[in-house]
Amino acid sequence: MRLLVTGATGLLGLNLSLVANEQGYVVTGLAHARMLQGAPFELISIDLLNSKDALKAIEAFRPDAIIHCAAIANMDTARAKTNMTIQLNAEIPGILADAADRWGTRFLHISTDAVFDGRKGDYVESDPTNPLSIYACSKLAGERAVQDANPHAIIARVVFFGWSLSGSRSLSEFFFNHLKAGEPVKGFTDTLFSPLYVEDLASTLLELVKTDLAGVFHVVSPEKLSKYAFGTRIAKRFGFDPGLIKPIRGSDIERGASRSLNLHLRPDKVQAALGHALPSVDVGIDKLYQRWEEGYPNFLKSLAA
Ligand SMILES: NC(=O)c1ccc[n+]([C@@H]2O[C@H](COP(=O)([O-])OP(=O)(O)OC[C@H]3O[C@@H](n4cnc5c(N)ncnc54)[C@H](OP(=O)(O)O)[C@@H]3O)[C@@H](O)[C@H]2O)c1
Repeated sequence: MRLLVTGATGLLGLNLSLVANEQGYVVTGLAHARMLQGAPFELISIDLLNSKDALKAIEAFRPDAIIHCAAIANMDTARAKTNMTIQLNAEIPGILADAADRWGTRFLHISTDAVFDGRKGDYVESDPTNPLSIYACSKLAGERAVQDANPHAIIARVVFFGWSLSGSRSLSEFFFNHLKAGEPVKGFTDTLFSPLYVEDLASTLLELVKTDLAGVFHVVSPEKLSKYAFGTRIAKRFGFDPGLIKPIRGSDIERGASRSLNLHLRPDKVQAALGHALPSVDVGIDKLYQRWEEGYPNFLKSLAA
């Protein structure tokens, strides 16, 4: 299968491209500002905001499937660059989804747990959305644009952790880097999430792309925990001092863009559709640790051009 991954230098896109390549997919990644050296898959540089050029390049590759990971994925960047964020996160997904539908190409769009306001928790796909930040609003608009353009598309609401190209993109790297250096950090006790280890998320997305499922799926861990508990588990698994993590309430401090507190999403729908459970957070942290022992973070860093 010929797979096109947008955002292939990002935390999800890079891990996904590598997992897909390992599984035998013919992968082409799209990058933008950063390039890779020595990646085992083809990478081309395209600004998705130039949608005409981007569509021409993607059509030339004739992918069987597109997994659209590219986005302005940082809440504070989204707040600072509103117009660009709306264009990239809200409008481009619909343009790509429409083209994929015309070409008969499978389209899987990556969205976020942050489409919910975090008041209720235990969210299922049919729960009403209520995004709080510009980032979250733009991502919800992106979902709607995809659904309007392409009834066959899959929309995966995700949240994940893992090793990245920069070594500092994910929350697990935030805890790892500070704790390894013996530096104290804050851990939010009132911010709940259900993160999947990124390579497990990648494998699940590749499973989904092979089905004829359509619509919204919560592709998250079945477990919920606070960001404080997540940091503590990372400390324990890597043998760092969990006492370096100071428990505080995220709602008590100013953190720029508005953030939803209880983002526990339920993966029941995707688990039923695929016929198996998604991994727990501890299983994911074990894999994070195992990949560190294997030198995977250094391998990723070596790809940075
Ligand atoms: N990280 C999380 O826990 C999380 C949680 C929920 C949802 N998500 C969603 O998951 C997806 C991936 O997130 P991530 O954390 O992997 O993001 P990331 O590490 O910030 O990567 C974003 C990717 O988008 C690319 N990009 C940005 N502007 C572009 C443009 N104009 N044209 C083409 N490509 C462009 C970047 O390319 P360059 O590097 O070349 O600029 C990069 O490859 C996003 O849809 C995000 O909303 C992430």
